[in-house]
Amino acid sequence: MKTWKRVAGITLTASAASAALLGGLFVYSGVYDVSATDQHTAPVYHLLETSLRRSVKLRTSGTEVPNLEDTGRVVAGFKLFRSHCVQCHGAPGIAPQPFALGLTPAPASLVASAQEWTAAETHWIIRRGIKMSGMPAWQYRMSDEEIWDVVAFMKVLPTLSPADYARWSREHAETPSATPQAPITSAAQEARLGDAGAGKKALQQYLCATCHAIPGVVGADKHVGPPLAGIANRQYIAGVLPNTPANMLRWLRKPTGVDPLSAMPDLGVSEQDARDIAAFLYTLREPQ
Ligand code: HEC
Ligand code: HEC
Repeated sequence: MKTWKRVAGITLTASAASAALLGGLFVYSGVYDVSATDQHTAPVYHLLETSLRRSVKLRTSGTEVPNLEDTGRVVAGFKLFRSHCVQCHGAPGIAPQPFALGLTPAPASLVASAQEWTAAETHWIIRRGIKMSGMPAWQYRMSDEEIWDVVAFMKVLPTLSPADYARWSREHAETPSATPQAPITSAAQEARLGDAGAGKKALQQYLCATCHAIPGVVGADKHVGPPLAGIANRQYIAGVLPNTPANMLRWLRKPTGVDPLSAMPDLGVSEQDARDIAAFLYTLREPQ
């Protein structure tokens, strides 16, 4: 009676299983070339391009765009662009840095991007970055307002000739600092912890996972620094500071202030991100 359903079911399962097996074999064989000297094959390129477009569209439909016409905003955006973007994307009359020429996918000329993407989409891309492309997420390095400043400048960018760009560079020579730093003492004095979920996300943005084994964080399996499992129960931080929330914030924001010879670098962790990361670290308890 229901034999045809059984047959259909078995056929579907069998073809899904063989597709998965073939995919697995393809990956495991190492045939796919990951080198950055060759472009992806055309099907992979189009697959990635379409995923990018669809992914950004889906996430930006409700975004409210502020007034981007303001001259102050455009100039502020230009300064940020000069310190954070031109190295990879270039500008009218300016080539990207040598390292950026070797990136695959190649960083787009933003003169073209400014016309292809809406303001909301551009804001999203700058804020969140693009996985597996070399486009950084700037959310942890720039405020939302600053990112809108950059978007405002990008709207003007296609109208600038190389001569205009050179003139702007002369007129607005000073560049803002790379990572806005609040005074560090305030964090140490007031040991309020933040949100553990946000902290787990922020960890990805300060390279913590490239040096520490961290339970629950994908890819965090390195041993350059001590494993962070059970850090909540440890008596000392880095063997020198009593393990209190205030000291944890101090350590995260400026390890070299605690121990100038520490191999853990100062990563420019903001006060809020340090509070969030500390909250997450204090969820890492030794099993009883
Ligand atoms: C380390 C190099 C690097 C830096 C720095 C960088 N980008 Fe990118 N960016 C990339 C790469 C690589 C891509 C992905 C390839 C592509 O689509 O352009 C990309 C993509 C983009 C895109 C989408 C382009 C498109 O048309 O698909 C925008 C918009 C963008 N970046 C803006 C910026 C802005 C604004 C800054 C500065 C705040 C910046 N980028 C800094 C490397 C960089
Ligand atoms: C370049 C590698 C590196 C990076 C990146 C790094 N750390 Fe470390 N970390 C270390 C080393 C090395 C130590 C041991 C330092 C010492 O004892 O002086 C350490 C120590 C620590 C400690 C104290 C551990 C203990 O057992 O007492 C904590 C907590 C910590 N790191 C958290 C973090 C967090 C959170 C981040 C990201 C914001 C981070 N680390 C980024 C290398 C790194």
